Amino acid sequence: MPFELSQVLKERKGENFRLHSRYVSPQLPRVLQTLAFDRFYERGEGCYLYDADGRRYLDFLSGFGVFALGRGHPGITRALHEAIDADLPNLVQMDCSLLPGVLAESLVARTHSGIERVCFTNSGAEAIESAIKFARCATKRDRILYCDHAFHGLTTGALSLNGGSEFRDGFGPLLPGCDQVRFGDIDALAAQLKRGDVAAFIVEPIQGKGVNIAPDEYWPAAQELCRRHKTLLVMDEVQAGMGRTGKLFCHEHWDLQPDIVTVSKALSGGFVPVGAMMCSAKVSDSVFSSMDRAVVHSSTFATNQLAMVAGLATLQAFDEEDIIDRARRTGDAFVKALDPLVERYEYLHEVRGKGLMIGLVFGEPDSRALRLRWKAIEAMRTALFSQLIVVPLFHRHGILTQVAADNMNVVKLLPPLVCGEEEVEYFVDALDDVLSSAQKGSGLFFEFGKTLAKGSLHRARS
Ligand SMILES: Cc1ncc(COP(=O)(O)O)c(C=O)c1O
Repeated sequence: MPFELSQVLKERKGENFRLHSRYVSPQLPRVLQTLAFDRFYERGEGCYLYDADGRRYLDFLSGFGVFALGRGHPGITRALHEAIDADLPNLVQMDCSLLPGVLAESLVARTHSGIERVCFTNSGAEAIESAIKFARCATKRDRILYCDHAFHGLTTGALSLNGGSEFRDGFGPLLPGCDQVRFGDIDALAAQLKRGDVAAFIVEPIQGKGVNIAPDEYWPAAQELCRRHKTLLVMDEVQAGMGRTGKLFCHEHWDLQPDIVTVSKALSGGFVPVGAMMCSAKVSDSVFSSMDRAVVHSSTFATNQLAMVAGLATLQAFDEEDIIDRARRTGDAFVKALDPLVERYEYLHEVRGKGLMIGLVFGEPDSRALRLRWKAIEAMRTALFSQLIVVPLFHRHGILTQVAADNMNVVKLLPPLVCGEEEVEYFVDALDDVLSSAQKGSGLFFEFGKTLAKGSLHRARS
């Protein structure tokens, strides 16, 4: 009998958490059940997810940023169906197929003039691995600099550039020669670069973990220092790129010309894993320096046809639907609508970000009663307050968000770039409601406790 997807979905409906606990890992199911985030999502459309009970959720996580165009984008869906039906010869390997060439050409046309070549990958982390290797090969140097709070993925090389111990612990020793500098600190960068042995400075233009932004003047100075010391500047645009901040690449906000640019996430339209590391012909040729080295860096699936089609269809949709400018306009309106909440609620200290990469920064209130409550909450667990916001946003209002990083009271918003006035208004009203409960009294705290208790009970039973 041929495989029938619809039959599997029907017969196994609702078994998702049990199966993950048993066959994948029990820890994520435990976390989600404790927070009562355990749902059986049946479908997604645009900015929304729908669960088996028919409840609608506003998805402001967008699969960690892959669904820039929303879920089920018709143009990409159609293109992928067409690609499967066309049955093109995929992954011949002893071949140079057409579509990777066309996508590489499209990407190069959209970057600054120093970017001439593309190396495709299956993920963001793999694009970073490529950047590490290419930079070392091109400069004949070993050292790589990265920033505190950086996140570049979780493969061993990318993990060696992770600015937080929570991800690194237990996996060492990691790659030697990787050293941390403070994000936005030009003197710290200068001190390292002047040793003359740094292959690359790998940095996110806006840090995903915390939505941290460096001062505007940092970027041209960092680029100039890298050039002076012959260190390659690698901009990790895996999260902040592809229109997220209101420019195709976030580094365009400062008119930078990085030596290497990495992308992934939204380039796939959310459908198929795809990533890319882009660099100059000179850097690329240092790796592929002879016929003997023609495949010295590659990956079996990296140029697979569905990924290339998803990438091409995504870029076309970006152009046709004016996605980048829309993201900038919606982002501006979003921040403007959120700003009054900073005035109104002492817990909300700042709204920061660019375009539709937004961080809500919570902190200790000024007034005594609120401050005592804040301290009591934070004494239980660092950065618990931000969970107190994320949980009722989900349960009361059906909005999916995330805490931006461990030990950080920042809630990150990564909405689909196609969201508009309706979604922004709904979110701002919901946050207003949750913050007003937090300000009024301990109700929100009890509600959170009740959710955890119910979640733990459910977990004990399941
Ligand atoms: C800036 C940045 N770089 C790299 C990565 C790793 O990408 P992936 O999860 O596809 O390996 C991420 C993932 O969140 C990211 O945000």
